[in-house]
Amino acid sequence: MNEMAFTNVRACVFDAYGTLFDVHSAASQYSANLGELENPVSELWRSKQLQYTWLRSLMGKYDDFWTVTGEALDYALASYNVDDQDLRNQLMNAYLNLSCFDEIEEVLHTLKENGIIVAILSNGSPNMLDPVVENSGIAQYVDANISVDEAGIFKPAAQVYQLPCDRFGIRPEEVSFQSSNCWDAIGGAYFGYQVAWCNRYSQQLDLLPAKPKVEIRTLLELLPLLGLR
Ligand code: LAC
Repeated sequence: MNEMAFTNVRACVFDAYGTLFDVHSAASQYSANLGELENPVSELWRSKQLQYTWLRSLMGKYDDFWTVTGEALDYALASYNVDDQDLRNQLMNAYLNLSCFDEIEEVLHTLKENGIIVAILSNGSPNMLDPVVENSGIAQYVDANISVDEAGIFKPAAQVYQLPCDRFGIRPEEVSFQSSNCWDAIGGAYFGYQVAWCNRYSQQLDLLPAKPKVEIRTLLELLPLLGLR
């Protein structure tokens, strides 16, 4: 039913964290140190990281995502009474070596083979984004790592979604945007992108002022939406 749902797409733009890269693979690299706290720390770290981006944007106080990620981790570790500076630094560095989800290489490779522009649009600062893309082996398929740093505000601000349009000289409706973060998918749809929400974790659709065009389970399902396979 989703067959060829997207038309006239010139660029496929992907969210990074949670969409291409598994954020929980940072804590899982240190499961021996974290023990039963691995999942609770990782979940709280991620949820505080996102909350802090939204709050900072409302406050008009931008600092880069590395800073925000560190503050969120400090909050999460303190919440579970983990006082270990070495582990803290190791977890931060693990953010530069996150695992890609299984299908990513095949999907990006297919898009490139078909002459579609491939870009990442992320809250991640360039000093986080460039290494994680490089270390995961997908850099060869990505035309641009675009960071919100250029806009000085986090998603879902419209200025952020404008960045790929300016970079490639294309209109919002010529972009297919993929995010597993429902609020980000909605932000992109509200801006005017054609959006696939990659609902990896069977979450409930957020009720905000736009809807993703389609919902998929993994990014492999993006290819038929574009008439590719
Ligand atoms: C990002 C966050 C939203 O990569 O995951 O922008």
